[in-house]
Amino acid sequence: MNTNVDICGVKLKNPVMTASGTFGSGREFSELTDINKIGAVVVKGVAAVSWQGNPPPRIAEVYGGMLNSVGLQNPGVDHFIEEDIPFLRQYDTKIVVNVCGHTIDQYREVVKRLKGQDIDLLELNISCPNVDEGGMAFGTDPVMVERVVSEVKKEADRPLIVKLSPNVTDITATAKAAVSGGADALSLINTLTGMKIDVHRRAPVLYRKIGGMSGPAVKPIALRMVYEVCKCVDVPVIGMGGISNGEDALEFIMAGATAVAIGTASFVNPNAAVDTVRGIEEYMSRYGIEDISELRGIIE
Ligand SMILES: Cc1cc2nc3c(=O)[nH]c(=O)nc-3n(C[C@H](O)[C@H](O)[C@H](O)COP(=O)(O)O)c2cc1C
Repeated sequence: MNTNVDICGVKLKNPVMTASGTFGSGREFSELTDINKIGAVVVKGVAAVSWQGNPPPRIAEVYGGMLNSVGLQNPGVDHFIEEDIPFLRQYDTKIVVNVCGHTIDQYREVVKRLKGQDIDLLELNISCPNVDEGGMAFGTDPVMVERVVSEVKKEADRPLIVKLSPNVTDITATAKAAVSGGADALSLINTLTGMKIDVHRRAPVLYRKIGGMSGPAVKPIALRMVYEVCKCVDVPVIGMGGISNGEDALEFIMAGATAVAIGTASFVNPNAAVDTVRGIEEYMSRYGIEDISELRGIIE
């Protein structure tokens, strides 16, 4: 049985990745799950310098998922290069670096600093709803998407995945803009903007009032968007949003995704990514599927 997938020339042993921001740099999960069994680890957003993130409360549980407004807290690219790359390289998995910035220059700076480093793929986060500058502000306007992607692409010496925001009317417009800007692959979805109010305190639960919604409740929306995007671009698509197990992952693959990522589910079950790999394999042996590619995009 072959579960290998190819993302822009990088071979993953299986199509399951971790979603950025939900698996730290892998260290946090290394004693709880077997990282060697995961196709790729996508690390938490890395900025040019360290970012503090937003004040608490920045996490809230909601029906079918969670809200977060973490705001891309991270120790910066130098720390990432010194500490996290050597740590992750101990494992038999691919390394995807999620890149964040407030300005185009900041994104370019991170990508420049990562030149020649021992990583496999870059993921450009132009879809975070929890920062005031950059993030989603770039990712919801197709003209801006094309501009950011083409500027960052000039510095990239690894294939560039562009992570799309679902907070748009037409996801195919931003998907096509990212590809025209030079995206080698697309990933979607980032979180959907949402809110929760504590009626007893008569105040929003999150300090920033609005945060990003993720988890099982967003899956049908994410799947619809992945399906629409796969129909309109020719680059590999990495699907995510509410995936918790093999069957969820297979829905995205049948909709056209080459790979999938597990996010919020890892907070509930640290083995969710590994369980998803096993679930895909069980499905393949049950239905006599020799190669995962036989299932990709079978939904017309
Ligand atoms: C706590 C938290 C932190 C996140 N941080 C990032 C991040 O740094 N960069 C990014 O591109 N996406 C980030 N995301 C979005 C996830 O990678 C993913 O796109 C989203 O949560 C949908 O998948 P899920 O429903 O499986 O969690 C974060 C999500 C959560 C819940």
